[in-house]
Amino acid sequence: MIDVRELMTTGPVIPVIVVDDPSSAKPLAEALVAGGIRVLEVTLRTPAAIDAIRAMSDVEGAIVGVGTALDGDDLARAQDAGATFAVSPGYTEALGKSAQKLSMPLLPGIANSADIMRARDGGFTAVKFFPAMQAGGVPMLKALGGPFVDTVFCPTGGISTSNAAEFLALPNVLCVGGSWLCPKDLVSKGAWSDITALAKDASALAT
Ligand code: 3PG
Repeated sequence: MIDVRELMTTGPVIPVIVVDDPSSAKPLAEALVAGGIRVLEVTLRTPAAIDAIRAMSDVEGAIVGVGTALDGDDLARAQDAGATFAVSPGYTEALGKSAQKLSMPLLPGIANSADIMRARDGGFTAVKFFPAMQAGGVPMLKALGGPFVDTVFCPTGGISTSNAAEFLALPNVLCVGGSWLCPKDLVSKGAWSDITALAKDASALAT
């Protein structure tokens, strides 16, 4: 089982991927891996998501996980398709227990102190700060760093090339997440070299 902190330190950015057309999944994963981005979060937001996880899991070098996992059933069907980790927008005790039962590494979402304490009670101290910009951005993460000295964050939501470095400079931020590496228009026209270029820029961000 992959350690969540290891996943978070594999690269500075975890792309949040929405796949509409399952045939684009494999070339998209190959384009990201070619640009040095290996940890891929495929969100369960489209009917194509599970097939996309299956297709991307065959790509050499890719570490494929499921995003937008809301319950144990989501974790189980994604794991069956080859997902090796899961990301959720929030945390519930039931989701945490399901992940532990399935031995599936989980990066659960939190947005405030109470969320962090609940996740911590369940054994999770590596969390996604979501939605990062709307929930207070860099100043909020600095403030949360006071009481929660053992917690590390992957801020996601509203992050792009213009502000990623500011988040990555914080000592309690191991990586950031975002959808900017896989813009819909580039994916739909199969502009894979452009996506590799975005991935290269993201890989070069300092952690
Ligand atoms: C997510 O779904 O985790 C975030 O909404 C991604 O946010 P972004 O589209 O602002 O990067």
